[in-house]
Amino acid sequence: MSGDTGSVYSRIAGTGGYLPERIMTNAELESMVETSDEWITSRTGITQRHIAAEDEFTLDLAEKASRVAIANAGIDASDIDLIVVATTTPDRVFPSTACLLQSKLDVHGCPAFDVQAVCTGFVYALGVADKFVKTGAAKCALVVGAETFSRIIDWTDRNTCVLFGDGAGAVVITASEEPGIYSTHLHADGDYAELLHVPSGVSNNLAAVKDGRAYVEMAGSEVFKMAVKTLGRIADETLEANGMVRDDVDWLVPHQANLRIIAATAKKLRLPMEKVILTVAEQGNTSAASIPLALHAGVSDGRIKRGETLIIEGFGGGFTWGSALIEY
Ligand code: UT7
Repeated sequence: MSGDTGSVYSRIAGTGGYLPERIMTNAELESMVETSDEWITSRTGITQRHIAAEDEFTLDLAEKASRVAIANAGIDASDIDLIVVATTTPDRVFPSTACLLQSKLDVHGCPAFDVQAVCTGFVYALGVADKFVKTGAAKCALVVGAETFSRIIDWTDRNTCVLFGDGAGAVVITASEEPGIYSTHLHADGDYAELLHVPSGVSNNLAAVKDGRAYVEMAGSEVFKMAVKTLGRIADETLEANGMVRDDVDWLVPHQANLRIIAATAKKLRLPMEKVILTVAEQGNTSAASIPLALHAGVSDGRIKRGETLIIEGFGGGFTWGSALIEY
Protein backbone atom coordinates (compact mmCIF):
# COMPACT_ATOMS: atom_id res chain seq x y z
CA MET A 1 0.00 0.00 0.00
CA SER A 2 1.26 3.49 -0.82
CA GLY A 3 1.46 5.01 2.66
CA ASP A 4 4.97 6.43 3.02
CA THR A 5 5.55 8.58 6.08
CA GLY A 6 5.55 12.22 5.12
CA SER A 7 3.27 11.76 2.08
CA VAL A 8 0.50 14.27 1.78
CA TYR A 9 -2.92 12.74 1.63
CA SER A 10 -6.29 14.32 1.50
CA ARG A 11 -8.51 13.05 4.24
CA ILE A 12 -12.26 13.31 4.59
CA ALA A 13 -12.76 15.68 7.51
CA GLY A 14 -16.54 15.87 7.35
CA THR A 15 -19.56 14.86 5.28
CA GLY A 16 -22.92 16.48 4.66
CA GLY A 17 -26.14 15.87 2.81
CA TYR A 18 -29.46 17.46 2.01
CA LEU A 19 -32.64 16.09 0.48
CA PRO A 20 -35.62 18.24 -0.53
CA GLU A 21 -38.68 17.86 1.68
CA ARG A 22 -41.10 16.63 -0.95
CA ILE A 23 -41.19 12.87 -1.36
CA MET A 24 -42.59 11.25 -4.48
CA THR A 25 -43.61 7.64 -3.90
CA ASN A 26 -43.97 4.88 -6.45
CA ALA A 27 -47.74 5.06 -5.84
CA GLU A 28 -47.71 8.69 -7.05
CA LEU A 29 -45.86 7.64 -10.21
CA GLU A 30 -48.52 4.99 -10.82
CA SER A 31 -50.97 7.86 -11.30
CA MET A 32 -48.66 9.60 -13.79
CA VAL A 33 -47.37 6.85 -16.12
CA GLU A 34 -48.16 3.20 -16.94
CA THR A 35 -46.09 1.61 -14.18
CA SER A 36 -46.44 -0.18 -10.87
CA ASP A 37 -44.82 -0.11 -7.47
CA GLU A 38 -44.08 -3.81 -7.99
CA TRP A 39 -42.22 -3.15 -11.28
CA ILE A 40 -40.20 -0.24 -9.94
CA THR A 41 -39.28 -2.00 -6.68
CA SER A 42 -38.35 -5.32 -8.24
CA ARG A 43 -36.39 -3.86 -11.20
CA THR A 44 -34.63 -1.03 -9.39
CA GLY A 45 -35.05 -1.27 -5.59
CA ILE A 46 -36.46 2.27 -5.54
CA THR A 47 -39.54 2.97 -3.41
CA GLN A 48 -39.45 6.78 -3.30
CA ARG A 49 -37.38 9.80 -4.30
CA HIS A 50 -37.12 13.44 -3.18
CA ILE A 51 -38.11 16.24 -5.55
CA ALA A 52 -37.01 19.88 -5.22
CA ALA A 53 -39.70 22.50 -4.67
CA GLU A 54 -40.41 24.83 -7.60
CA ASP A 55 -38.41 27.62 -6.00
CA GLU A 56 -35.56 25.35 -4.87
CA PHE A 57 -32.51 25.02 -7.10
CA THR A 58 -29.28 23.03 -7.29
CA LEU A 59 -27.41 25.84 -5.54
CA ASP A 60 -29.82 25.72 -2.59
CA LEU A 61 -29.31 21.99 -2.20
CA ALA A 62 -25.53 22.36 -2.56
CA GLU A 63 -25.41 25.10 0.06
CA LYS A 64 -27.39 23.10 2.62
CA ALA A 65 -25.25 19.97 2.15
CA SER A 66 -22.05 22.05 2.28
CA ARG A 67 -22.98 23.75 5.55
CA VAL A 68 -23.50 20.33 7.17
CA ALA A 69 -20.15 19.08 5.84
CA ILE A 70 -18.38 22.23 7.05
CA ALA A 71 -19.90 21.87 10.53
CA ASN A 72 -19.04 18.16 10.70
CA ALA A 73 -15.46 18.86 9.60
CA GLY A 74 -15.12 21.40 12.43
CA ILE A 75 -13.73 24.02 10.07
CA ASP A 76 -14.74 27.57 9.30
CA ALA A 77 -15.91 28.31 5.75
CA SER A 78 -13.02 30.79 5.52
CA ASP A 79 -10.59 27.84 5.76
CA ILE A 80 -11.79 26.54 2.38
CA ASP A 81 -9.26 27.12 -0.39
CA LEU A 82 -10.89 25.11 -3.21
CA ILE A 83 -14.50 24.44 -4.21
CA VAL A 84 -15.40 21.78 -6.77
CA VAL A 85 -19.05 21.09 -7.55
CA ALA A 86 -20.17 18.12 -9.61
CA THR A 87 -23.48 18.81 -11.29
CA THR A 88 -25.36 18.08 -14.50
CA THR A 89 -28.12 20.50 -13.57
CA PRO A 90 -26.47 23.86 -12.80
CA ASP A 91 -28.68 26.85 -11.94
CA ARG A 92 -27.17 28.94 -14.71
CA VAL A 93 -25.08 28.41 -17.85
CA PHE A 94 -22.59 30.57 -16.01
CA PRO A 95 -21.27 31.43 -13.48
CA SER A 96 -20.60 27.91 -12.31
CA THR A 97 -22.57 26.54 -9.38
CA ALA A 98 -19.25 26.43 -7.51
CA CYS A 99 -18.82 30.23 -7.88
CA LEU A 100 -22.40 30.86 -6.76
CA LEU A 101 -21.83 28.53 -3.80
CA GLN A 102 -18.58 30.29 -2.94
CA SER A 103 -20.45 33.59 -2.65
CA LYS A 104 -23.25 32.03 -0.53
CA LEU A 105 -20.61 30.69 1.85
CA ASP A 106 -18.87 34.08 1.96
CA VAL A 107 -15.63 32.53 0.71
CA HIS A 108 -13.52 34.69 -1.59
CA GLY A 109 -10.57 34.30 -3.89
CA CYS A 110 -9.98 30.55 -3.97
CA PRO A 111 -10.54 28.55 -7.18
CA ALA A 112 -14.12 27.40 -7.65
CA PHE A 113 -15.39 25.40 -10.62
CA ASP A 114 -17.88 22.76 -11.71
CA VAL A 115 -17.14 19.37 -13.21
CA GLN A 116 -19.57 17.57 -15.47
CA ALA A 117 -19.41 13.78 -15.49
CA VAL A 118 -23.09 13.09 -14.77
CA CYS A 119 -23.47 10.21 -12.29
CA THR A 120 -19.68 9.85 -11.97
CA GLY A 121 -19.39 13.57 -11.26
CA PHE A 122 -18.63 13.32 -7.57
CA VAL A 123 -15.85 10.79 -8.15
CA TYR A 124 -14.38 13.12 -10.77
CA ALA A 125 -14.68 16.13 -8.44
CA LEU A 126 -13.06 14.21 -5.60
CA GLY A 127 -10.28 13.01 -7.92
CA VAL A 128 -9.52 16.59 -9.00
CA ALA A 129 -9.66 17.99 -5.46
CA ASP A 130 -7.47 15.14 -4.17
CA LYS A 131 -4.81 16.05 -6.72
CA PHE A 132 -4.92 19.72 -5.67
CA VAL A 133 -4.33 18.64 -2.07
CA LYS A 134 -1.64 16.05 -2.92
CA THR A 135 0.31 18.62 -4.91
CA GLY A 136 0.02 21.23 -2.16
CA ALA A 137 -2.20 23.52 -4.27
CA ALA A 138 -5.01 23.29 -1.71
CA LYS A 139 -5.25 22.36 1.95
CA CYS A 140 -8.97 22.38 2.60
CA ALA A 141 -11.33 21.57 -0.25
CA LEU A 142 -15.10 21.51 -0.38
CA VAL A 143 -16.30 18.85 -2.83
CA VAL A 144 -19.99 18.73 -3.65
CA GLY A 145 -22.34 16.62 -5.76
CA ALA A 146 -25.65 18.43 -6.27
CA GLU A 147 -28.53 17.81 -8.67
CA THR A 148 -32.07 18.79 -9.49
CA PHE A 149 -32.36 15.96 -11.99
CA SER A 150 -36.16 16.24 -11.84
CA ARG A 151 -35.76 19.32 -14.09
CA ILE A 152 -34.39 17.25 -17.00
CA ILE A 153 -36.84 14.38 -16.67
CA ASP A 154 -39.72 13.81 -19.07
CA TRP A 155 -42.43 12.98 -16.54
CA THR A 156 -44.38 11.12 -19.23
CA ASP A 157 -41.50 8.73 -19.99
CA ARG A 158 -41.74 5.68 -17.74
CA ASN A 159 -38.33 4.46 -18.88
CA THR A 160 -36.64 7.28 -16.97
CA CYS A 161 -39.04 9.16 -14.68
CA VAL A 162 -39.22 6.38 -12.09
CA LEU A 163 -35.46 6.30 -11.61
CA PHE A 164 -34.22 9.72 -10.60
CA GLY A 165 -34.44 12.11 -7.65
CA ASP A 166 -32.96 15.37 -6.36
CA GLY A 167 -30.42 15.96 -3.60
CA ALA A 168 -26.94 17.08 -2.66
CA GLY A 169 -24.01 15.60 -0.79
CA ALA A 170 -20.74 17.22 0.22
CA VAL A 171 -17.40 16.44 1.81
CA VAL A 172 -14.62 18.60 3.19
CA ILE A 173 -11.20 17.13 2.52
CA THR A 174 -8.10 18.41 4.28
CA ALA A 175 -4.37 17.82 3.85
CA SER A 176 -3.07 15.13 6.19
CA GLU A 177 0.00 13.00 6.74
CA GLU A 178 -2.32 10.06 7.46
CA PRO A 179 -4.40 8.41 4.73
CA GLY A 180 -6.75 9.46 3.41
CA ILE A 181 -7.65 8.98 -0.15
CA TYR A 182 -5.22 6.37 -1.46
CA SER A 183 -6.13 6.60 -5.11
CA THR A 184 -8.76 7.78 -7.53
CA HIS A 185 -9.46 6.20 -10.91
CA LEU A 186 -11.27 8.20 -13.58
CA HIS A 187 -12.35 6.96 -17.00
CA ALA A 188 -14.56 7.92 -19.93
CA ASP A 189 -15.51 6.68 -23.38
CA GLY A 190 -17.48 9.20 -25.43
CA ASP A 191 -18.35 6.60 -28.08
CA TYR A 192 -21.27 5.66 -25.82
CA ALA A 193 -22.76 9.16 -25.70
CA GLU A 194 -26.03 8.19 -27.39
CA LEU A 195 -26.99 5.48 -24.89
CA LEU A 196 -27.55 7.89 -22.01
CA HIS A 197 -27.91 11.57 -22.80
CA VAL A 198 -29.91 14.77 -22.98
CA PRO A 199 -29.89 15.34 -26.73
CA SER A 200 -29.81 19.12 -26.72
CA GLY A 201 -27.88 21.80 -24.89
CA VAL A 202 -26.74 25.38 -25.20
CA SER A 203 -24.87 25.30 -28.51
CA ASN A 204 -27.00 22.57 -30.07
CA ASN A 205 -30.43 23.70 -28.95
CA LEU A 206 -32.34 22.32 -31.89
CA ALA A 207 -35.57 21.32 -30.19
CA ALA A 208 -34.19 17.80 -30.20
CA VAL A 209 -37.02 16.59 -28.02
CA LYS A 210 -40.76 16.97 -28.26
CA ASP A 211 -41.55 20.45 -26.97
CA GLY A 212 -38.04 21.75 -27.34
CA ARG A 213 -37.10 21.07 -23.75
CA ALA A 214 -34.16 18.85 -22.94
CA TYR A 215 -34.83 15.55 -21.24
CA VAL A 216 -32.84 12.48 -20.27
CA GLU A 217 -33.01 9.62 -22.75
CA MET A 218 -31.60 6.24 -21.86
CA ALA A 219 -31.20 2.83 -23.47
CA GLY A 220 -31.75 1.22 -20.06
CA SER A 221 -30.74 -2.39 -20.57
CA GLU A 222 -27.58 -1.51 -22.58
CA VAL A 223 -26.54 0.92 -19.86
CA PHE A 224 -27.32 -1.68 -17.22
CA LYS A 225 -25.08 -4.36 -18.81
CA MET A 226 -22.24 -1.94 -19.36
CA ALA A 227 -22.50 -0.60 -15.79
CA VAL A 228 -22.31 -4.07 -14.24
CA LYS A 229 -19.32 -5.07 -16.38
CA THR A 230 -17.44 -1.81 -15.89
CA LEU A 231 -18.01 -1.43 -12.15
CA GLY A 232 -16.76 -4.96 -11.54
CA ARG A 233 -13.61 -4.21 -13.53
CA ILE A 234 -12.91 -0.90 -11.80
CA ALA A 235 -13.17 -2.51 -8.36
CA ASP A 236 -10.30 -4.84 -9.35
CA GLU A 237 -8.30 -1.94 -10.83
CA THR A 238 -8.70 0.03 -7.61
CA LEU A 239 -7.56 -2.81 -5.35
CA GLU A 240 -4.63 -3.76 -7.60
CA ALA A 241 -3.38 -0.15 -7.74
CA ASN A 242 -3.03 -0.22 -3.95
CA GLY A 243 -1.79 -3.80 -3.51
CA MET A 244 -4.98 -4.63 -1.65
CA VAL A 245 -7.34 -7.59 -1.77
CA ARG A 246 -11.10 -7.80 -1.43
CA ASP A 247 -10.91 -8.71 2.26
CA ASP A 248 -9.24 -5.36 2.97
CA VAL A 249 -12.41 -3.50 2.02
CA ASP A 250 -14.83 -2.67 4.84
CA TRP A 251 -17.44 -0.77 2.86
CA LEU A 252 -18.68 -0.29 -0.66
CA VAL A 253 -20.25 3.14 -1.19
CA PRO A 254 -21.59 2.90 -4.73
CA HIS A 255 -23.51 5.20 -7.03
CA GLN A 256 -27.16 4.43 -6.39
CA ALA A 257 -28.69 3.81 -9.82
CA ASN A 258 -30.22 0.38 -9.38
CA LEU A 259 -30.12 -2.14 -6.54
CA ARG A 260 -29.43 -4.94 -9.01
CA ILE A 261 -26.33 -3.18 -10.38
CA ILE A 262 -25.10 -2.55 -6.83
CA ALA A 263 -25.72 -6.18 -5.81
CA ALA A 264 -23.77 -7.44 -8.84
CA THR A 265 -20.80 -5.20 -7.92
CA ALA A 266 -20.90 -6.29 -4.28
CA LYS A 267 -20.93 -9.93 -5.39
CA LYS A 268 -17.88 -9.33 -7.55
CA LEU A 269 -16.11 -7.86 -4.49
CA ARG A 270 -17.45 -10.77 -2.39
CA LEU A 271 -18.87 -8.21 0.02
CA PRO A 272 -22.11 -9.10 1.79
CA MET A 273 -24.88 -6.54 1.25
CA GLU A 274 -24.59 -5.49 4.92
CA LYS A 275 -21.24 -3.98 3.93
CA VAL A 276 -22.78 -1.86 1.19
CA ILE A 277 -24.23 1.57 1.94
CA LEU A 278 -27.63 1.72 0.28
CA THR A 279 -29.81 4.79 -0.17
CA VAL A 280 -31.38 3.85 -3.49
CA ALA A 281 -34.68 2.72 -1.95
CA GLU A 282 -35.41 6.09 -0.33
CA GLN A 283 -33.59 8.45 -2.70
CA GLY A 284 -33.53 6.88 -6.17
CA ASN A 285 -30.72 7.93 -8.48
CA THR A 286 -29.58 11.46 -7.59
CA SER A 287 -26.76 11.38 -10.17
CA ALA A 288 -23.67 13.26 -8.89
CA ALA A 289 -25.22 13.57 -5.42
CA SER A 290 -25.76 9.88 -4.81
CA ILE A 291 -22.27 8.85 -3.65
CA PRO A 292 -21.69 11.72 -1.19
CA LEU A 293 -25.24 11.26 0.11
CA ALA A 294 -24.58 7.56 0.68
CA LEU A 295 -21.24 8.35 2.32
CA HIS A 296 -22.93 10.87 4.60
CA ALA A 297 -25.63 8.33 5.49
CA GLY A 298 -23.05 5.68 6.42
CA VAL A 299 -20.91 8.10 8.43
CA SER A 300 -23.73 9.83 10.26
CA ASP A 301 -25.47 6.64 11.39
CA GLY A 302 -22.14 5.37 12.75
CA ARG A 303 -21.65 2.41 10.40
CA ILE A 304 -18.53 3.84 8.70
CA LYS A 305 -15.85 4.39 11.33
CA ARG A 306 -12.51 6.17 11.29
CA GLY A 307 -9.75 3.91 10.00
CA GLU A 308 -12.07 1.76 7.89
CA THR A 309 -11.48 1.26 4.18
CA LEU A 310 -14.05 2.14 1.56
CA ILE A 311 -14.40 1.91 -2.15
CA ILE A 312 -16.60 4.50 -3.80
CA GLU A 313 -17.51 3.93 -7.42
CA GLY A 314 -19.79 5.33 -10.05
CA PHE A 315 -20.92 4.94 -13.64
CA GLY A 316 -22.87 7.35 -15.80
CA GLY A 317 -23.48 9.26 -18.99
CA GLY A 318 -20.52 9.78 -21.27
CA PHE A 319 -19.95 7.00 -20.55
CA THR A 320 -17.93 8.00 -17.52
CA TRP A 321 -16.88 5.77 -14.66
CA GLY A 322 -14.59 6.05 -11.70
CA SER A 323 -13.67 4.93 -8.22
CA ALA A 324 -11.64 5.84 -5.17
CA LEU A 325 -10.07 3.85 -2.39
CA ILE A 326 -10.37 5.75 0.85
CA GLU A 327 -9.42 5.21 4.45
CA TYR A 328 -12.07 7.12 6.35
O1 UT7 B 1 -26.95 6.40 -13.25
C1 UT7 B 1 -26.54 6.31 -14.56
C2 UT7 B 1 -26.57 4.95 -15.03
N1 UT7 B 1 -27.93 4.48 -15.17
C3 UT7 B 1 -28.15 3.24 -14.90
O2 UT7 B 1 -27.25 2.56 -14.46
C4 UT7 B 1 -29.51 2.66 -15.21
C5 UT7 B 1 -29.30 1.35 -15.88
N2 UT7 B 1 -30.51 0.65 -16.29
C6 UT7 B 1 -31.41 0.15 -15.41
O3 UT7 B 1 -31.32 0.37 -14.23
C7 UT7 B 1 -32.46 -0.76 -15.97
O4 UT7 B 1 -32.15 -1.12 -17.28
C8 UT7 B 1 -33.90 -0.19 -15.92
C9 UT7 B 1 -34.37 -0.11 -14.50
C10 UT7 B 1 -33.91 1.19 -16.55
C11 UT7 B 1 -34.87 -1.09 -16.68
O5 UT7 B 1 -34.81 -2.40 -16.16
P1 UT7 B 1 -34.65 -3.66 -17.14
O6 UT7 B 1 -34.77 -4.86 -16.30
O7 UT7 B 1 -33.37 -3.46 -17.90
O8 UT7 B 1 -35.92 -3.53 -18.06
P2 UT7 B 1 -36.00 -3.33 -19.64
O9 UT7 B 1 -35.49 -2.00 -20.04
O10 UT7 B 1 -35.42 -4.53 -20.27
O11 UT7 B 1 -37.56 -3.32 -19.85
C12 UT7 B 1 -38.35 -4.42 -19.50
C13 UT7 B 1 -39.81 -4.08 -19.76
C14 UT7 B 1 -40.05 -3.41 -21.10
O12 UT7 B 1 -41.27 -3.95 -21.59
P3 UT7 B 1 -41.28 -5.08 -22.75
O13 UT7 B 1 -40.57 -4.43 -23.90
O14 UT7 B 1 -40.52 -6.22 -22.15
O15 UT7 B 1 -42.72 -5.33 -22.95
C15 UT7 B 1 -40.28 -1.97 -20.74
O16 UT7 B 1 -41.14 -1.30 -21.63
O17 UT7 B 1 -40.27 -3.17 -18.77
C16 UT7 B 1 -40.94 -2.08 -19.40
N3 UT7 B 1 -40.79 -0.90 -18.59
C17 UT7 B 1 -41.61 -0.58 -17.58
N4 UT7 B 1 -42.70 -1.18 -17.11
C18 UT7 B 1 -43.32 -0.62 -16.06
C19 UT7 B 1 -39.79 0.05 -18.65
N5 UT7 B 1 -39.99 0.98 -17.70
C20 UT7 B 1 -41.11 0.61 -17.03
C21 UT7 B 1 -41.81 1.14 -15.93
N6 UT7 B 1 -42.90 0.50 -15.48
N7 UT7 B 1 -41.41 2.28 -15.30
